[in-house]
Amino acid sequence: MQKERGSWSTGIGFILATTGSAVGLGNIWRFPYIVGTGGGGIFVLVFLFFILVIGVPLMMAELALGRAAKRNPVGAFRVLAPGTSWWVVGLLSILSSLLILSYYSVIAGWSISYLVQTIQGGFAGFTNQEMGEQFAQLTGQVTAPLFYHGLFLFITVLVVKKGISGGIEFWSRILVPFFFLLNIYMMIQVLSLPGALDGLVWFLRPDPTALTVRTALGALGQVFFSLSLGMGAILTYGSYLPEEEDIPGRALLICLADLALAILAGLIIIPAVFAFNFQVDAGPGLIFITLPAIFNQMDNGVLFGSLFFLFLSIAALTSAISLLEVVVSYLIDEVQMKRGVAVILAGSAVFILGIPSSLSQGRFSLQILGYSFLDFMDLLASDLTLPLVGLLTVIFAGWFWGPSKAQGELDSAARPLFFQIYFPLIRYVIPLVLGYIFFSSIF
Ligand code: TRP
Repeated sequence: MQKERGSWSTGIGFILATTGSAVGLGNIWRFPYIVGTGGGGIFVLVFLFFILVIGVPLMMAELALGRAAKRNPVGAFRVLAPGTSWWVVGLLSILSSLLILSYYSVIAGWSISYLVQTIQGGFAGFTNQEMGEQFAQLTGQVTAPLFYHGLFLFITVLVVKKGISGGIEFWSRILVPFFFLLNIYMMIQVLSLPGALDGLVWFLRPDPTALTVRTALGALGQVFFSLSLGMGAILTYGSYLPEEEDIPGRALLICLADLALAILAGLIIIPAVFAFNFQVDAGPGLIFITLPAIFNQMDNGVLFGSLFFLFLSIAALTSAISLLEVVVSYLIDEVQMKRGVAVILAGSAVFILGIPSSLSQGRFSLQILGYSFLDFMDLLASDLTLPLVGLLTVIFAGWFWGPSKAQGELDSAARPLFFQIYFPLIRYVIPLVLGYIFFSSIF
């Protein structure tokens, strides 16, 4: 069935593409707003802990499973556990990538519309209150947000259509380093604003009494979302990874890069929120009201603001690519579709699925359980389906696939210790922690 499967042209291309998948709206848009609603320093601490104890090993497991199977998530479970029902886990992950991409693309659309506004100098002289009104006005419309949602998806479709190394590697290679530098510059600017240090303290000082199961689940969901775990994206990227690449070292590097960019975003947004007197628990609109205020304060703010929203949109693109690629590789491998057809079909489905999320911000304030439709989809994905698929994946990797095969993929002479730490985490620690948080938050 599988003949010519794409492969990464270089090791660095793989690192950049996987980092490109991980780094996205999750770091810049989601992390600061979740820290804001989740209680500040204690959330950050729990997040850090989960990245190291759960994120890194799970990324190693997904890469190893993907490379061993050389298939999309459904095919991977079929190949690694023939005759069992494990492939359902793969199917669940394909459905959740459709779900995530549908609202992800709506938010990426907001980023593009902010890019357009910033280039036109559209935020100059706005008061704080006007920033908030502007956000509500932009996202509350019917056609403009849908147009940008469609535009973003269209670009995603074009890149994924070009296939694995051409499209994806190219963009990530340019983006990741430049975005880092711009964020560091902005952090320095923000931290020198009067009042910013209060935000820094709030972000860095953990208040242990604020630790609840809800906080832990939120931090866990954020780890999955930010690292693109629990949904087959990393597994799919691993399936294109050449045999000689060292998985543990790569996984660690990618997780650290992603973590660094999330912390950087937090160190920009949260201090700025305090300096400008915004509400730290404003929710999903947080960066969209805070960033224009930051750029208004900066020299050459229009230039830096435009660059920032451009980079943010491209960062969202490299993540969206990985979400769409999961669905597309499934359709190619398992349903025998041509890449071109698969991409257009999946792209159209995602566009339609995204419509209620987009409309839920305005006059059609569609709500589920008190959340807007978009927020509900976001929480459903990150706090439910991602950890669930993650839990099933570690159980599979730890108990069914077993140590010897995992060792074959993960062991390297350069890092003899990695496997000794990795395996007990995958087999015992992660399932227990995930299971505990998961079930105690449901009941
Ligand atoms: N990690 C990306 C971000 O931070 C989003 C993303 C891409 C994702 N692929 C994923 C999230 C797979 C969960 C699963 O923006």
